[in-house]
Amino acid sequence: MKDVITVVGAGYVGLTAASVIASAGYKTNLIDVDERKIEIIKRGRSHFFEAGLDKLVKSGIDSENLIPTTEFDSLKETDILFSCVGTPDREDGSSNLDYIFQVADKVAHISSGEIIYVQKSTVPVGTGKKIKKYIASKNSDLKVKYVSNPEFLREGSAVYDTIFFDRLVIGGEDLEAMSKVEKVFKDVDEWAKKYESNGYGDYVLYASHPDDSGLPFEEKTIKINIESAELVKVTSNAFLALKISFANNIAKVADKTGANVKEVFDAVGMDRRINRSFLYPGLGWGGGCFPKDVSGLTKAGEELGLNMKILKEAYEENRSMVDYVADRVISISPKNKEVGILGLSFKPGTSDVRKSPAIALVKKLLDKGFKVTVNDPEAFEEAKHELGESVIYEDDPKKVIENHEIVVIATDWKVYKDTDWSKINRSKLKYVLDARNCSDKKDVES
Ligand SMILES: NC(=O)c1ccc[n+]([C@@H]2O[C@H](COP(=O)([O-])OP(=O)(O)OC[C@H]3O[C@@H](n4cnc5c(N)ncnc54)[C@H](O)[C@@H]3O)[C@@H](O)[C@H]2O)c1
Repeated sequence: MKDVITVVGAGYVGLTAASVIASAGYKTNLIDVDERKIEIIKRGRSHFFEAGLDKLVKSGIDSENLIPTTEFDSLKETDILFSCVGTPDREDGSSNLDYIFQVADKVAHISSGEIIYVQKSTVPVGTGKKIKKYIASKNSDLKVKYVSNPEFLREGSAVYDTIFFDRLVIGGEDLEAMSKVEKVFKDVDEWAKKYESNGYGDYVLYASHPDDSGLPFEEKTIKINIESAELVKVTSNAFLALKISFANNIAKVADKTGANVKEVFDAVGMDRRINRSFLYPGLGWGGGCFPKDVSGLTKAGEELGLNMKILKEAYEENRSMVDYVADRVISISPKNKEVGILGLSFKPGTSDVRKSPAIALVKKLLDKGFKVTVNDPEAFEEAKHELGESVIYEDDPKKVIENHEIVVIATDWKVYKDTDWSKINRSKLKYVLDARNCSDKKDVES
């Protein structure tokens, strides 16, 4: 008999993980306190856009392996709990662990006997210890086997990353519990092999290397202690954010000197010690992870009395990019102060606009008195919570381009990269500011 799974938090991580685990044959309860999200999932859909996810959710609901609910009763019969709730940043940059401890509280009050408690959310190093202590103080009869299993999925290729994960980090103290968690992902891996041979292309739509399913399962499984696993996750994100900020810093040097930054990083990235990934300058990083993971690690380090200057500078460099692009727009501002913005999500392949630099740019330009027309293939609904009626929402990117003197590419969606510039009526268009370096200058100017 397979273990009974409960996933708490039906967001980007939890819904994707639960749908995949349910597809691999596990009875998977999915709990969220947000009734709206649970109602949508019950109807066999995802409440956000992610390639291939709707199909997985539907098959989970149809097979009755995926059981969405707002009730916590299933904790009574749960063998393995995956905690996937949010860990947003507080105003001072530190991680807000309120949701994390709400889950711990439910476990302490509802679960009985023994439970394997897996933390998938990104938490500061040391959190696992605190959770174990907290639960023990509320329910000393409950045996909690705590495992840190940080999630590495990227929005935009979340399903792909969950199925074809390139590493599985399992941090714990109890070898049996760690093996049971490993078994769940081994089953996912086995299911993925069959599924891969079925060739469902849409799951890999936005994956950067869809043909590469990586190392064999055993070689990509890393078993370490809880604290190391906690630190692996935030270190990975902080380093990637650092790379982007560094690329942006160099891009400013290139701008002032006539160097072509794309050519520079193409050459720099050929050095295998460095590699090309994440050396893409542009409007900067955003989303639900990088900003809070960088500030959370900075804060955690400072609380330990350490100097976290490098990460602070990366954050500042990132923040400066929206101003840098806004100043460019202002410097070429047409008399009518109208501007078209292509892209609102924080990156392509997702409808997520949390801490999106594109949204920050729109807000900045609105503040400066611009009339802003926006386009995005997926993010209008979520962007409306941020921008309301302050902008014009245009479904057709071509109309945005043709009806403005200035257009900014703020998110590198494929549809913008694939624009056939030879078919654009240029009677109005004067400037295309490609803030993602995703189009070919020659094509745009032709
Ligand atoms: N989004 C990503 O790309 C990504 C990638 C890797 C890791 N992570 C980490 O995973 C965690 C979750 O991120 P996310 O993007 O899925 O967040 P999210 O905000 O999309 O989802 C979190 C969900 O938890 C629910 N929730 C909050 N408190 C709850 C409670 N007490 N009981 C039940 N449900 C509750 C919320 O309603 C929400 O639906 C975070 O720690 C994040 O840093 C995210």
